[in-house]
Formats: sequence, structure tokens, C-alpha cells
Amino acid sequence: MAVGKSSVGLLLAERLSFQFFDTGVIYRTFTWKALDAGLSTSDSAALIQLARRTEFRFVPGSGSRLTVLIDGEDVSRQLSAQQVERSVALIAKIPEVRECMVAEQRRMAMDHRLVMAGRDIGTVVLPWADLKVFLTATVQERARRRHAELVQRGAGIPFETVLAELEQRDHNDITRAVSPLKAAADAIVIDTDGLSLGAVVDRIFALAQSRRQDC
Ligand code: C5P
Repeated sequence: MAVGKSSVGLLLAERLSFQFFDTGVIYRTFTWKALDAGLSTSDSAALIQLARRTEFRFVPGSGSRLTVLIDGEDVSRQLSAQQVERSVALIAKIPEVRECMVAEQRRMAMDHRLVMAGRDIGTVVLPWADLKVFLTATVQERARRRHAELVQRGAGIPFETVLAELEQRDHNDITRAVSPLKAAADAIVIDTDGLSLGAVVDRIFALAQSRRQDC
């Protein structure tokens, strides 16, 4: 069963009557826009310029999910394209591009009661969040989930390719200078290998309830 941050976050948001936003969507949406505009992932100056003049809007998607409109356009169906998949970590490591994305995510958090998923939410985007949870899983387990997801969408991609790309992306995310992937000091770490989706959600829901009682 899938216990990725997106499935966990979505179910949790539903139980809390919050909305859910997976921040990978904003980086993927921007990457799609940059590629569509013909920009190269190595052209930082043009990418920064594009990020600064792009307008993001957050609108209700399916269920409790918030989705992004980029300059008024919904490109959510393009976000798993191989080209986006290969380029997103390269674009996401540009500090000025991140600054724009982080500002948008903070704006969104001001406007909604929110479960937000992403690699730098507890450390950078919302260090003042009421509850921070850091989910871990082995790269093999995550590749297996991602592969199953892609197969379900009709992509005929070998497991080894998914695994290799994920390892490369992890390397970029962990070693980048700005907002590298790491748990916040005050985050609660949950290892999801071998846990069901329901078990992970139950655990976080209980934590959220006890935080509410503390306030
Ligand atoms: O979570 P998802 O796989 O959709 O994220 C795609 C990419 O977006 C990540 O590999 C990372 O490079 C970037 N990202 C990020 N910070 C976030 C969310 C995503 O840098 N908070």
C-alpha cells in the first residue's frame, strides 16, 4: 500500500478537515512552465527571471487537495512527464527560484488550514508549524511505489530506470547548498517501511490531536 507523503497528507487533511498541499507540485508546475518556454535547466538567469514574473494561484483540486494554476493555467496532467521528472531537481536547487516558491507556499499557509508536504517545510518554509513530521522510507521502497504509480498511469518504464532517477534526484536534493533535504530538529520522524497507510495516518492524527489539546 502507498504510504508516500502525498497519500498520508491527503488522508490526514481529510480527517482534520484541513486542506492538503504537496509542495512538489509547485516545483513541478514551474519546471513544466520553464521547459514549455524553451529554457534550459542550466540557464539560471532566465529561470530566475521567469520565476519572478510568474503568477501562482492556489485553488481547490480533487478532495481536500489544493492545486496550482500557473499564469491562470492548470497543467497538473503534465507534472509526471519524464522531462519534468528529470529537470525538476536541477531547477529547484537555484536559490532565487526557491525564494519565489517559498514565498508562495507561505502565502498559501496564511490563507488556509493546511497539511503541507515537502522536503523543507519544517526547516525552511514553515519553521513555526504546529506539528512537524518527517517520513522516511528506503529508496527501493519509494521507487517501488513510484513505479507502480507510473505503471498505473500507463507509462511503460522499467523499475531500474525509476530507481536510478530517484537516486539521482535524492543526491541532488540532499547535496544542494540551499534547503537540503533534512528533518527539522523538532520534527517527529516516522519510518514508514512496513507500515500501512492507515497506521501512519493514525499515528500523525493522534499527534495532531494531542498538540491541539496542549494549546
Ligand atoms: O515531491 P516531488 O517528487 O513531487 O518533488 C519533485 C522535486 O521538487 C523534488 O525532487 C525536489 O527537487 C523539488 N522539491 C523541493 N522542495 C520541496 C518539494 C519539492 O525542492 N518542498
